[in-house]
Amino acid sequence: MNRLLEILQDGRFHSGQELGALLGISRSAVWKHLQRLELALGIQLYKVPGRGYRLAESISLLDIESSTAVLNQLGWGLKAMDSTDSTNAEALRMLLAGVRAPFVVLADAQSSGRGRRGRTWVSPPAQNLYYTLALTISGGPQRLAGLSLVVGLAVMEALRKIGVEQSGVKWPNDIYANGKKIAGILMELTGDPADLCHVVIGIGINVNMTASPGEIEQAWTSVRNETSVLVDRNELVRVLSHSLHHYLRRHAEEGFVGLRSEWEASNIWHAQHCCLSTGSQQVKGVVLGVDNQGALRLGVDGHEKCFSGGELSLRLEDDS
Ligand code: ATP
Ligand code: BTN
Repeated sequence: MNRLLEILQDGRFHSGQELGALLGISRSAVWKHLQRLELALGIQLYKVPGRGYRLAESISLLDIESSTAVLNQLGWGLKAMDSTDSTNAEALRMLLAGVRAPFVVLADAQSSGRGRRGRTWVSPPAQNLYYTLALTISGGPQRLAGLSLVVGLAVMEALRKIGVEQSGVKWPNDIYANGKKIAGILMELTGDPADLCHVVIGIGINVNMTASPGEIEQAWTSVRNETSVLVDRNELVRVLSHSLHHYLRRHAEEGFVGLRSEWEASNIWHAQHCCLSTGSQQVKGVVLGVDNQGALRLGVDGHEKCFSGGELSLRLEDDS
């Protein structure tokens, strides 16, 4: 399947005969493979009699070899998959089966990509990045303080390096560009955070997606929308992995306190009137920043209050 996509990746027309000869299969087998591309992966094809087939949209395929080399250099393993339910779920299964962290799970598509609080992460094939890094954490809960915010800084740095200059972070787990969501982070834990645990850090980045196959009930964008060029996803894997490695090392050495001012400088909703949903309650206030643990500081009726926890959701007061 990937070999067929590799050939079609150039965006030109290829006849059934040519594809059959290149793949060593019959024309009817080519036809079946092309149908699978359309039905199983949702990849749109143009079929023109006399000219053959071409992709409706150019794509950038993941190159396992180059990503393996990049990650191995950082001391991280790689499991690359055409498709999975969720790269976070796959990483958790691998940990359960005894695979040693650190490792990365990369998939071309997710059938049940997940966000926080059971929400869905829209994950069409061959367009975006679905990347999960599994780590072992020892040394107590302090090692986890502010970790997802620091991962946000790493994702933002990677986006800026590949040309999305107007990117910033939104507490606690989103990355925005020009007021629209471009990436999200979902961290999940197993084990005992007070002692030895594993954390899977799931990162979804909209890369070449220009239309969403499913409804996204908030404003979103992609690297391609922001830069107007087809992005090499392998280059993004390289840049993101290096940024993550850099920021995770700093977080381990300095704690969140050493990165707090950097996070504050990129906080897109600083001084904005917001509404924080705690599940049972809605709290209105002005965003003041974050504390040394990464908790949100909100000015509520003239008093500063701090909030932390996985179930919290922050919206602009005008939008909520
Ligand atoms: P908050 O974290 O403050 O609740 P949020 O609405 O972004 O904000 P999350 O749980 O972080 O909520 O993210 C899941 C949401 O992200 C989904 O409900 C959907 O609105 C949005 N979403 C889903 N897929 C994508 C995507 N590919 N790109 C951008 N946004 C998406
Ligand atoms: C959010 O904004 O709620 C977080 C979205 C996280 C999506 C990524 S995609 C890779 C990893 N696998 C998942 O199922 N989710 C995360």
